[in-house]
Order: sequence, then C-alpha cells, then structure tokens
Amino acid sequence: MAYAAFRSIGAYVPSKILTNEDLATMVDTSDEWITKRTGIKERHIAGENETTSDMGVEAAKLAIERSGIDSSEIDMVICATISPDYFCMPSTATIISTKLGLGNVTAFDISAACTGFVYILSIAKAFIESGMKKNILIIGAEKLSAITDYSDRGTCILFGDGAGAAVISATDNKDEAIIDVHTGADGSYADLLMTPNGGTGSPHDSLDQEAGACFMQMKGNETFKVAVRTLTKDVVEILADNNLDGTDINHFVPHQANYRIIKAVGDALKLTQKQVIVTVEKYGNTSGASIPMAINDIYEDGSLKEGELMLLDAFGGGLTWGSALVPFSPKK
Ligand code: UT7
Repeated sequence: MAYAAFRSIGAYVPSKILTNEDLATMVDTSDEWITKRTGIKERHIAGENETTSDMGVEAAKLAIERSGIDSSEIDMVICATISPDYFCMPSTATIISTKLGLGNVTAFDISAACTGFVYILSIAKAFIESGMKKNILIIGAEKLSAITDYSDRGTCILFGDGAGAAVISATDNKDEAIIDVHTGADGSYADLLMTPNGGTGSPHDSLDQEAGACFMQMKGNETFKVAVRTLTKDVVEILADNNLDGTDINHFVPHQANYRIIKAVGDALKLTQKQVIVTVEKYGNTSGASIPMAINDIYEDGSLKEGELMLLDAFGGGLTWGSALVPFSPKK
C-alpha cells in the first residue's frame, strides 16, 4: 500500500496591506476593538487585477520547487477556494494548472470554506493511498476582499487575501505518512456564515444586483461559540483515535479566524504558547488559505523541521470542520 507524505509548502501574500487604522476610516470601528476582539492588526489585499489563481500559482511554484520533484510529475491539482476566479466554471484549479504548464492533469476545486485545505488534504491522501495518483498539488487560495462588504464592520475587519500550497506524494515509508484526517459538516448551521445572493438559492432579482451579489454575511457571535466547541471536540477526537496527546504535537496549526478562538482551543488541549501557531495578527482570516500560509511561515522561519508532527484544525462556513495529523516529510 502507498502512503501519502506531506513533502513541501509554499505561500504567497499580496503586497498591499490594510491596517486596522485604515478600516477605522471606512467603518465605525477602532484598532483597539479589532485587536482586543480578534487579535488582527492587519491583512493583505490583492491588487485589483490580481486573481485567486494568480496567487495560487505563486504559492504552487514555491511548493513544487521545494518538493524535490519535477513539475511534470504532478498528476492532480486540487484547489480549495470560496472566491474562485469565476463562479461556476472554469475551476480555479484548471486555470492554475494551465498557468503552471502542468499539462492535462486532473484538476478541480472544492468548496468547504475555511476547512477547504483540510478537505483537499483528505482527498489527496485518499487518491494516493488508493494508488490512483502519485504527486498531488493542493492549493488554498482566496481573494476574500472581492466578496467582502466593506460597509459591514462585523465582517470587513476579519478577512484578507493570500494563498498557500503543498505537494503530497506517494511513499512506501510509513514513518513519513500523513497519520489521519477527519472531516465533517452540518448544513443545519448554513445561515451562520454564507453568501446568500448570487446562486440558485437566492431570489432571482438578486442575481441582477452587480455589487454585493456575493458578499459574505456572518452571525459572528454564534459562529464564534460553535467554532470553539467544534474545533476543540475535533482535535480531542483525532488525538484519542490515534493514541496521541498534546505533548506529541510539535506544531498546532489551527485555522486563523480569531486569536480568542485559537487560544481557547490551545488552552483546552493544554498546549504551550510555542506549540500554537498564530499568524492571524498579520494576515487576518484568509479562509482556505490560512492553514497553508501559517505552515509556510513556520517553514520559512526555520521552526518546522523534518519529521515534526503538525496538528491541523479548521472550521468554517457550511458548517464544515476538519483536523489532521501530519508529519512534515520533505523528500530525502
Ligand atoms: O472563519 C470561519 C469562522 N469564523 C469565525 O469563527 C469568526 C467567529 N466570530 C468572531 O470572530 C467574533 O464573533 C467577531 C470578531 C466577528 C465579533 O466579536 P464578538 O466579541 O462576538 O462581538 P459581537 O458580535 O458580540 O458584538 C459586540 C459589540 C456589538 O455592539 P453592542 O450590541 O454590544 O452595542 C457590535 O455591534 O461590538 C459591536 N461591533 C463592533 N464594534 C466595533 C461589532 N463589530 C464591531 C467592530 N468595531 N468592527
């Protein structure tokens, strides 16, 4: 049986920065409120003509370069995004694949909001373990600024743009293998976090509205409470299922939505500050891109070492959730 190894990571962050002070000139808010309630100080915003696929391509180039394989060996591309280049079709993954010159490999998107990266990790693992694919490029990429209502202070302070990518490859060595991935969903909470307009579920006249057709809406406080509960339950279960505990984890990499959520989950697991990876202060919430962007940060600052165990944990619109136990296994 083939195992799936997490070989490499890459990320891209657009250069333009939107600070809390900038937002305070746009809506009734303050740096003090945003910092205290979310931990966010700034977020990066893509250029007007910069697309989700453009950012995904830059992250993917780095991940492929660091994977030790040739790009011609990639046999599948999966992109997690809720802000695709085009709603419906073509998929952002096909655009990324073509921009990278990967040939006619299988390419598709999935929609699982902030849990997207954990979902595509589970898909890549399954395809590799089944023997159907050998080297899969997975990408979380978001231009959330394009679907954010900058007159809504409840959401516009949270979101940012960026992309992260990883190469998952087949290996015979069980020590290198992704240990486990859990995913779940509950549509009965759909109304907590959604883009209510612009699809077949919306009133037909809303399809005619150009501006605001696809803006995100969130019941923040209710989402917060479900997030803490679900994220904690999720990691407790995946650790127990694999006879591990918090002391076995080198890096806890949660979805970066709100520092208070991250802290609550880290405290519940009795993790040290060093174990818990926090990037929300500089990137805000980048949905499906947030986990790979955070992994890239610890890779680039030298704190992610070969063989170290990462615990990923995500939660988002749908509602969806997921967790994963992932050793960092660069190609030898
Ligand atoms: O990524 C997917 C999952 N997403 C999440 O998990 C996000 C979860 N939610 C959150 O992070 C938090 O709920 C928020 C940061 C969105 C909001 O924080 P909160 O502590 O839950 O605040 P709240 O919604 O309960 O609002 C408290 C007060 C309200 O005023 P009143 O009614 O007490 O007078 C809001 O109107 O804060 C007010 N408020 C603001 N004030 C200044 C809401 N947004 C702002 C703002 N600036 N930006």
